[in-house]
This record gives sequence, C-alpha cells and structure tokens, in this order.
Amino acid sequence: MTRKSAGIIRAFPPEAGSEKDSPELPVCIHCVAVGRFERNLMTRFISELAGTLVPYVPGEQPKDKKYVKLNTNENPYPPSPAVLRAIRKETENLRLYPDPDADAAREAAAAYYNESLSLDGDAALDRGNFFIGNGSDEILAFIYPTFFKGKKLAFPDITYSFYPVYAALFEVDCEIFPLKEDFSMDLETLMPLPADVAGMLLCNPNAPTGRALELAEIRRILEANRERLIVVDEAYVDFGAETAAGLVNEYDNLLITQTLSKSRQLAGIRSGLAIGCHELIQALDTVKNSFNSYTADRLAIAATVAAFEDRDYFHSTRNTIIETRDHVTAELRRMDFDVIESSANFIFVKPPAMIRAEQLFTELRNRGVLVRYFNKPRISDRLRVTIGTPEQMKTFLATVREILEECS
Ligand SMILES: Cc1ncc(COP(=O)(O)O)c(C=O)c1O
Repeated sequence: MTRKSAGIIRAFPPEAGSEKDSPELPVCIHCVAVGRFERNLMTRFISELAGTLVPYVPGEQPKDKKYVKLNTNENPYPPSPAVLRAIRKETENLRLYPDPDADAAREAAAAYYNESLSLDGDAALDRGNFFIGNGSDEILAFIYPTFFKGKKLAFPDITYSFYPVYAALFEVDCEIFPLKEDFSMDLETLMPLPADVAGMLLCNPNAPTGRALELAEIRRILEANRERLIVVDEAYVDFGAETAAGLVNEYDNLLITQTLSKSRQLAGIRSGLAIGCHELIQALDTVKNSFNSYTADRLAIAATVAAFEDRDYFHSTRNTIIETRDHVTAELRRMDFDVIESSANFIFVKPPAMIRAEQLFTELRNRGVLVRYFNKPRISDRLRVTIGTPEQMKTFLATVREILEECS
C-alpha cells in the first residue's frame, strides 16, 4: 500500500529497518501495549507528557458482588424525588443542545446561597458569581490552566490526591507544605505563602482527614495573600464546615469549588460549581468555551436546579448523615480507634494496635464491607470510612467488632 504525502510517495507500512530507532524514553504503561503494536508505541505517537503521567485512581466500583460500599464518599440516600422528576421531564428535550451557560443552574445556586447565608447588598450573589461544570473535578481541571499556567501552586502533603495529578497534566509547578502531626494546618507558614507561589489549593474540610478550617482562618489566609489566588475546594463543606461563599464579593483572590456529588446525591450525573467574583468566573468561562461549550448537559442542569430548590430534602439527608457520623465516631472510639473529628461525610480512623489498617481493610473487604486504604506516607496506618445509612454502619461496626475479636 502506498500513501502520498506532500508530494512524496512512501511505502506504508515502512519496510523493516527503514526507520531510525526511536530514542530511549522512560518505561511506562503505554510501552507494555498488547499484541503487534507494542514496539515503541510511546515514542511514535504518545507525547512524552502523556507517557509519564500517573493518573488519579478513584475508589473501587466493584462488579463482583454486592458490598456495603463505604469507599468513595458517595451519599447513601437517593436523589430527591423532585430531582428525579426534573430529570424525567428534561428527557423530552434531549434532541436540543443544552444552554452553554447553564444559567438556570447558576441562578438556582445564587438563590440558595443568598437565602441560606442571608446575603444582600454588595455581598449578594448573582448568576455571574457561578460557574457550572461536569463535576468539580472538571472545574479543578479548568482552574489549573486558567490561573496557574507557568506558575507555582501550593497545597498540603495530605490532601485530595487529584491535585498533584492535575499539576502534572497541566505542567504546573507545586509547592507542597506539610500538615502538622495531627493533620491540622500550620497557618503561620501560609502568612504569607512563599514569594514565588501564585496561589493555593485548600480543601475544606480536608480530604481524607475530614478536618475543617474555620471561616475566620480562611479569611486570615485571604488577607495575608491578597496577590495570590486561594482556591477553596468545598466538596464536603455541607457536612459540618462553613462555606466561604459569602466572601467572594469581598475577596477577588477567592475561588470556591463545590460538587453536587456528595451532599446532594448526584455523583452519577456529574455536576459541580465554582463560586467567585465576576472576573474570575468569566476567565473560567473563556477557558471552558475554548474547550467544550456544553460541559453541563441538559439532565445535569435540570438536576442541579431541582437539587438547590429542594432545601428540605437536602437538610434532612445531610442531618441524618451528620448524626450517623457522630454515632459511628463514638462507637469506634469505644473500640480504641483514633478517630479524627470530622466535618465531612467520612471519618479517617486509625485502628487499635492489635491490627494494621491494611489488614483491617482486607478483612473488611473479604466480609463484604469496602472502605478506602491509602498506601501512602504518613497515612498508611489509617482507613477512610464513608458514612452510609444507619443500617450500613451497623453492619460495618459489627464486622469490625468481629474482626477485632478474632485478633484478640
Ligand atoms: C476533595 C474533593 N474534591 C473534588 C472532588 C470531585 O467531585 P466531583 O468531580 O464528583 O464533583 C472530590 C471527589 O471525591 C473530592 O473528594
């Protein structure tokens, strides 16, 4: 077979030995491709960047059997009936593209925050303060090139493990600062951040520890770093921390990300938001519209509106999760677990000396209970346990008790 390219006729595929060997590059998973394509695949087509990426690994979504699934911080309750009705109704419009600005969702979020935080006057939020994305992970992915390209970004050593992955993908330098021994933040080291740092990612409450900063502490960080962008990831804020949403018209260096995956039961629909001053949101819009006009689809927009409108369902499910968390925390402490005080829908626990965290993880998994174990420095002696329904947590506690009894 021949191919014509720029007037030159070449044999295709080239005869063996007719091309120069590619230079040696680091071994990566792409080089171990299967079958007849394995030779130098990376050097032929795949960029050096893609070849060196180490992707984020989300919590397991097992298919082998039914587990008590406490490993990915999903909400154990179904979406509100109003959300399901809104999704069903919106299916009638699926032949039409969605609103690229997702205005209905922006307005519903603004109305929710103005009411719940009693914002008015200059502090009141409007649609221009909100950006809607395909989950907050996607919004974080937009934040890197929009604000930190060619700059340096700071975040703690123990935090959401997607942050360093995006830094590698978007080639943003990182300044990683250690949390204290008890996983709290050493605020004085951030007042201000080092001169060459352009901004900071602050997960509040932090994952996987569940520890939260108070609003007054966020304000101090913002004040001390007026020339740096402080991004507060509030994925779990509704379970016990204070949102900084009421500060975005006061601080142009504050950008918040939130998700509907946790407190609003919509992990499967993919919807998240960013909250910031108009200028920051416009910058995100520009980058989003240079990538894909329709990151939020019709069903996600309809679900987001209904989820923000159904305040009662949100409050009652959120409160039940908080009550369940407090009960499980007390029960585990009674069994000599070290449990960090959590403001999230998960707890980060260190088992008693008789069993290692990894062993407990495996034993729980073998008995049908899935939690999350991170084999990483400083946290390999802990497990992260998502708070499920009271029934699920009863099973979890009974299974833990059984395992500990077998160890003693
Ligand atoms: C801290 C944190 N931020 C952001 C996300 C992303 O949420 P989503 O993309 O589902 O909105 C997660 C998901 O687990 C998270 O733990």
